[in-house]
Amino acid sequence: MSKITYPFLYKAVELAEYKSNILRSLLSLRWVEKRLESLPDDHLLVKVDAASCNPSDIAFLQGAYQVKKPVPAVPGFEASGIVVDIGAKVLNKTLVGKRVACFTQSDSYGTWAEYVVLKPSEILLHDQRFSVQQSAGFFVNPFTAYGLFELALEKQSKAIVVNAAGSVVASWLRAFAKQFGLHIIGIVRNRSTARLLSKKGWETVLVSSSDGFEEKLRDALAAYTPIIGFDAVGGEASGQLIRCLPDSSFLVVYGGLSAKAIGDIPPLRLIFGEHTIRGFNLNNWLKRASTEKIELAASMITEMLLENKDLVSIQAEVSAENLVEGLKKYLGNMSAGKILIRF
Ligand SMILES: NC(=O)c1ccc[n+]([C@@H]2O[C@H](COP(=O)([O-])OP(=O)(O)OC[C@H]3O[C@@H](n4cnc5c(N)ncnc54)[C@H](OP(=O)(O)O)[C@@H]3O)[C@@H](O)[C@H]2O)c1
Repeated sequence: MSKITYPFLYKAVELAEYKSNILRSLLSLRWVEKRLESLPDDHLLVKVDAASCNPSDIAFLQGAYQVKKPVPAVPGFEASGIVVDIGAKVLNKTLVGKRVACFTQSDSYGTWAEYVVLKPSEILLHDQRFSVQQSAGFFVNPFTAYGLFELALEKQSKAIVVNAAGSVVASWLRAFAKQFGLHIIGIVRNRSTARLLSKKGWETVLVSSSDGFEEKLRDALAAYTPIIGFDAVGGEASGQLIRCLPDSSFLVVYGGLSAKAIGDIPPLRLIFGEHTIRGFNLNNWLKRASTEKIELAASMITEMLLENKDLVSIQAEVSAENLVEGLKKYLGNMSAGKILIRF
């Protein structure tokens, strides 16, 4: 029986309007009071403990993401929390009191709030041994890496190459590669990130801003012959990968961190190399995936998460009042780990 009485007041971060300048956007965030009138029959209510901040949240604040909610809007797509109430039509009546991972792109609610209203498909009930930190990062990045890595297995590639290798998605790709015996080549833009990854055990890391990078990339690709590349950057980085990958390779674009259109791809290289460029989006993957596939992915991810502490990478935890400072810290050094917003 729910102890929640409606309506009730709760607090949430609110974005008044989209601003392409990220600092202006951050400064316009407010910590406001909201009123929840009632819980729809087919939804559940989660008390948020910790919300993640991913590159998609940053692009969202800038109005540069695919998801654009009517403003004012509560940002945040991912979180960890406890289910505190369920609507009458929610089938699983045992959810109340359980810690769940949340992922929502709904117009009306966001995870940067004390409470979030979600559809059952927007939560994952995971191993209850997870810490808040493990739970908060359980949904988006590991499942993205799983979906991407599935493509590498499908193409029977012996190795993979990934840029923005200091990212959490890349660390999961590395974990999957290790599990399946594939070599991984990482590309980062800073030497300091390359050093960090080497310390974590990455064997092949290239720095895109270093002299002779493209030649080094060609050499590494010739040595390990990946026929699939994962591109989170876009802009010139995509062209660089296509120019260097062996013939009949696949480039999977899953992020646009450079905020630049994909370029520098010589048409003749594409034609005579018979390369394929495709996109990947987690939301679509989740919609296509069977329940069995999602369960299989979840159990594999759970095992890896419980075994490997390096897969949780958090540089700071901040309260909603200190959110702006936290976000600035994250933007100043994204490879150092996520920031978690605690409620
Ligand atoms: N398609 C999907 O469904 C999906 C789902 C989840 C994530 N993603 C994408 O996956 C990517 C990684 O996400 P994440 O949460 O794992 O990231 P993260 O852990 O927050 O790390 C971001 C990484 O990107 C690097 N980076 C930022 N801007 C860059 C640029 N212009 N050029 C090269 N590197 C840059 C950062 O390096 P520095 O330290 O050098 O800044 C950092 O290593 C993002 O593009 C995200 O949008 C896509």
